[in-house]
Amino acid sequence: MTPSDVKATLSFSDGSPSIDLPLYKGSIGPDVIDIRKLYGQTGKFTYDPGFLSTASCASTITYIDGDKGELLYRGYPIEQLAQQCDFLEVCYLLIYGELPNTEQRTTFTKTITYHTMVNEQMQFFLRGFRRDAHPMAVLTGLVGALSAFYHDSTDVQNARHREIAAHRLIAKMPTLVAMAYKYGMGQPYMYPRNDLSYSANFMRMMFATPCEDYKPNDVLVRAIDRIFILHADHEQNASTSTVRLCGSSGTNPFAAIAAGVACLWGPAHGGANEACLNMLEDIQRMGGVEKIGEFVKQVKDKNSSVKLMGFGHRVYKNYDPRAKLMRETCHEVLGALGLGNDPLFKLAMALEKIALEDDYFVSRKLYPNVDYYSGIVQRAIGVPVSLFTAVFALARTVGWIAQLNEMIGDPEYKIGRPRQLFVGSARRDVKPVAQR
Ligand code: CMC
Repeated sequence: MTPSDVKATLSFSDGSPSIDLPLYKGSIGPDVIDIRKLYGQTGKFTYDPGFLSTASCASTITYIDGDKGELLYRGYPIEQLAQQCDFLEVCYLLIYGELPNTEQRTTFTKTITYHTMVNEQMQFFLRGFRRDAHPMAVLTGLVGALSAFYHDSTDVQNARHREIAAHRLIAKMPTLVAMAYKYGMGQPYMYPRNDLSYSANFMRMMFATPCEDYKPNDVLVRAIDRIFILHADHEQNASTSTVRLCGSSGTNPFAAIAAGVACLWGPAHGGANEACLNMLEDIQRMGGVEKIGEFVKQVKDKNSSVKLMGFGHRVYKNYDPRAKLMRETCHEVLGALGLGNDPLFKLAMALEKIALEDDYFVSRKLYPNVDYYSGIVQRAIGVPVSLFTAVFALARTVGWIAQLNEMIGDPEYKIGRPRQLFVGSARRDVKPVAQR
């Protein structure tokens, strides 16, 4: 990176000498001030819990304009990718930087398809879990365990190992998510089938049984594929930053991705789709559309800690473009299933309308995010609520890998090691127990 001609000058009110800091311009988006030499030159750190103003890396993968409500993968708008590409093309784009041509698309699809089976021993490992374990608990364990099965792709410094690990993770995640689901249901696992598309294969592994095959409806396959595309990457969010930080120690890619799965589980992040659907069901039980006013009142009450799940975002201060696409898919799926009058969808649209007109949400720029409608789509398809976040993890795996590989290939990469503002006790001596 070459610094721009502009410099940022930092001055202090206590007479300490001011310093000039280099400034870099991105291809789009805000400039960044390079503070790497700040400590060396001033003996001071910066303080930014939650990374509100801190860029943790330079990246070429995903760009979000939160004010405009724009999301680009490698420069391509999410709307065009969702309408014109399938998930595996988007995976190729995220990992290799360009959309595949016909030959690259065929080869990549074949490579992923032929990596979908998991080591047979995995199912015995799975058996150690309780049947009622949360699928995200199971998935965190299974993904971490991949490093115990695929020793020939664990050297993160080796580009070929990284590529094989990427193919394996993208290919095996649907198999693992479906296995976690089947295990919870007490049903036999369904092996992947190579004649099906990535998304159709996932649905078949989820919903077929050895007694009865499952022929996925095209509209539903396209909906699942779109869910995957919309969740594939989202620049430096909590789980991606976790993967980068974990991977910065040089650990193997499977371990780093397992850390991402664990982080995604939280309700402020990937767990929001599950929390959003539970919230809609609660309002429905309370009386449905009639009770929206009462619910919104609780959300606005600072002492209630109730949030409107599926609303708000650290970066988007406008409608999340993924939410618009998800709402469109919601119409298509409910229409295809003859559920056009689905009460939960009606409730969600009524709640959205009221929130978007309410000053509390307007003044805080709180709009629906991707999770607001994705739960309704998944539920209509037959995905149980407790599996929603695992489906998100499946889709986000490619983004995590692309970001991890970008970091390892970056000449400026270092192990991540934040500093702190220490506000605890200064040095003191241990007293004998009788005097404490
Ligand atoms: N319902 C009610 N109030 C909200 C909400 C919400 N969903 N989100 C933010 N606020 C309020 C918040 O209380 C604060 O108010 P005040 O200024 O009076 O204290 C103000 O809006 C700013 O919020 P914040 O908590 O400072 O914003 P943040 O950037 O730290 O949090 C968020 C972002 C996504 C964690 C938060 O909006 C949230 O918890 N939303 C609900 C959970 C959710 O839908 N998460 C999915 C995010 S998209 C998928 C993903 O990327 O994983």
